[in-house]
Amino acid sequence: MQDFHFHNPTRVIFGRNKSIEAGETVIQFGYQALLVYGRESIKESGLYQSVTNSLRAAGAEVVDHGGVQPNPTIAHVREGVEKAKSRKLEVILAVGGGSVMDEAKAIAAGATAECDPWRFFSLGQKPERALPVITVPTLAATGSEMNGNAVITNTETRQKLGMFSPLLYPKVSILDPSLTLRVPPNHTAYGLADIFSHILEPYFNGADPVTPVQDRLAEGLFQSLFDIAPRLRQNPSDYPARADMLWASTVALNGILAAGRGKTHWDVHLLAHSLGALFNAPHGGALAVIIPGWMARNAQKRPAKFDQFANRVMGAKAAEEGIAGLKEWFRGIGAPVSLGELGIKESDIPAIVENVMDTGGGGKYTQRADIEQIMRLSL
Ligand code: NZQ
Ligand code: ZN
Repeated sequence: MQDFHFHNPTRVIFGRNKSIEAGETVIQFGYQALLVYGRESIKESGLYQSVTNSLRAAGAEVVDHGGVQPNPTIAHVREGVEKAKSRKLEVILAVGGGSVMDEAKAIAAGATAECDPWRFFSLGQKPERALPVITVPTLAATGSEMNGNAVITNTETRQKLGMFSPLLYPKVSILDPSLTLRVPPNHTAYGLADIFSHILEPYFNGADPVTPVQDRLAEGLFQSLFDIAPRLRQNPSDYPARADMLWASTVALNGILAAGRGKTHWDVHLLAHSLGALFNAPHGGALAVIIPGWMARNAQKRPAKFDQFANRVMGAKAAEEGIAGLKEWFRGIGAPVSLGELGIKESDIPAIVENVMDTGGGGKYTQRADIEQIMRLSL
């Protein structure tokens, strides 16, 4: 195990109907609030009304910033920054999935900066300040509710890039599993695949190969996802299963699994981001498609770890059987398992390879030749 600092400052409020505490939580950080949300779901469920009621009851003044789309764009971030600056807003409340939470963070950084917010993504420029962000996730998937990451797409340059700043950890996250009861089956499947990937990448791609405590934590979480998925297939409104899934999403990417592993390489995510940038592929769906091919390509590079995964996680004898079992699990939960299911053709592979290389390369374990081969294995 390598030396590490671990500090996660996000305060978590977890429980049924806790979203009614949004207003009183927000005013602890300011009375002039930007409410960031997506397209239809928040209004269809009545959540928009209850959150705005809660904000007004607490005395907050609310500026609306709806219409965040999956794979959120820098153009929409810029609109939010403009609202925050011109209205001198003090706090940002994100109510939605990972896209909404990420856009809220990008606006929080941009609202206190002179520069264009894309510089945080394209040039790695670090924000010096940020407005406080409160999140109320409505989808269990990304872990954005308890980390300092944001991922934004530039549709002009066709790049999907991430940033991290300790300033962007949400001050408070209200995790209310009842908000996730109506998430449709496809997004539940994408969420499970995304959570799986957040456990998987540090497991395989951490610099330090000897991390037995972290491995056992990860293996327990993998098993939890295997347990949650059939409960939700049977009954999508199973509150305890939704609560387990929401907490799994939060724990999977709040830093605890990566601590002590040394630098983690997010190779699979880099590939998935190109599918998001080029084809607007849903993040978790892209991961489910790529992971088995990525594993097949990498199994020989770290055979002991892939055998460990096969044995302990998949109950399989060897790596190949474990990978096949995982692909079947993705298929069984309703996630796509081929590029074709995302509308991506073999003839698109050269453009994917170029996009990955243009946006920083495939990562430590995934070079140019690997990317093409992984995409072929994912057809
Ligand atoms: O726009 P609305 O109508 O709200 O619909 C959304 C959207 O279409 C819908 N939805 C959300 N909550 C719902 C709901 N539908 C019914 N009931 C609800 N309660 O779900 C759709 C997808 O939403 P989105 O926010 O895009 O999904 P997700 O949470 O998977 O977020 C994906 C984004 O997060 C980034 C991804 O790259 C992608 O851009 N990630 C962020 C990370 C982070 N900040 O740490 C890490 C991840 O690896 C990931 O990269
Ligand atoms: Zn992810």
